Amino acid sequence: MAISSLISTLPKAELHLHIEGSLEPALMWQLAKKHQVTLPYNSVAEIEAAYQFDDLQSFLDLYYAGADVLRDEDDFYQLMWSYLSKCREQNVVHAEIMFDPQTHTLRGVGFDTFMPGFSKAIDQARSEWGMSTLLIMSFLRHLPEADAFVTLKEAEPYYSNITAIGLDSSELGHPPQKFERVFAQVKELGFKIVAHAGEEGPADYIWQAIKLLNVDRVDHGVKCQQDSELMQYLIKHQLPLTVCPLSNLKLKVIDDMKHHNILQLLEEGMLVTVNSDDPTYFGGYLNENYDQLHAALGMNTDQLKQLLANSFTASFLPEPKKQYWIEQINAA
Ligand code: HPA
Ligand code: ZN
Repeated sequence: MAISSLISTLPKAELHLHIEGSLEPALMWQLAKKHQVTLPYNSVAEIEAAYQFDDLQSFLDLYYAGADVLRDEDDFYQLMWSYLSKCREQNVVHAEIMFDPQTHTLRGVGFDTFMPGFSKAIDQARSEWGMSTLLIMSFLRHLPEADAFVTLKEAEPYYSNITAIGLDSSELGHPPQKFERVFAQVKELGFKIVAHAGEEGPADYIWQAIKLLNVDRVDHGVKCQQDSELMQYLIKHQLPLTVCPLSNLKLKVIDDMKHHNILQLLEEGMLVTVNSDDPTYFGGYLNENYDQLHAALGMNTDQLKQLLANSFTASFLPEPKKQYWIEQINAA
């Protein structure tokens, strides 16, 4: 079977996906009309054309502005439903989905609006096609740690719906150590922990995420090659990296997909995975990310199967479920 068919038909898990970053321009346009929100665009095509970025911050500015059209429970249902439907189309059988509560609570949209919207779509996808999903609540790191404590408290009625807590937004100048105390509480509460580190920031931020926040996975982490001791640590402990190739290209973390280091990291024995991050902003969902690795880096079938197996190994699924999916991949 051609590798493109393997990419589209084999089961996959996605572990690094911001639900707000899956807002399709057409849905943004429709919701802006519904709520009479003025967008700085005159058409859906203009929204799409605006998605050219110089760095992480230039993307985040548009991403937070776009999220302003999400106002009521049904908006959040539609947002989640649209992503989960894409998963079905692409054979993504399991997704660990990040959401940014502070992007909404700061605008007066509360947990009692977005959580029921998310849950309705998640329950429907589970009952209609057996999709498995879990949620990662992320703190915005450009805000003070005190705000993260408030968010953690506000989320209390929804703890049973949340598996992990993460850290995202503007990395440079906001090192993991800024959130050491709140993640100590997160750990005590029994959540899994993830953090964006080493996307634009240095290898030292990855060390901080490991040593000070106790992360179970590192989001991005592509700057790990700056530090060979860190590389050895990541290999020895099989600490997963959730790598996002198209995101790295669009945010100019790399200048050309041909220079992406994911296959080097894989060959060195690191537990790297492929993810889409913010698919509507970066020009592709999960399968398009795998396609790019084949087109630009010559990813072969063995490497593809290893990356697919890694996506389950690095997930927060129970062991028998991981084994089930890995056997399906190996048998193909
Ligand atoms: N990095 C940091 N914060 C984010 C990202 C990202 O790639 N996407 C959405 N929030
Ligand atoms: Zn991300």
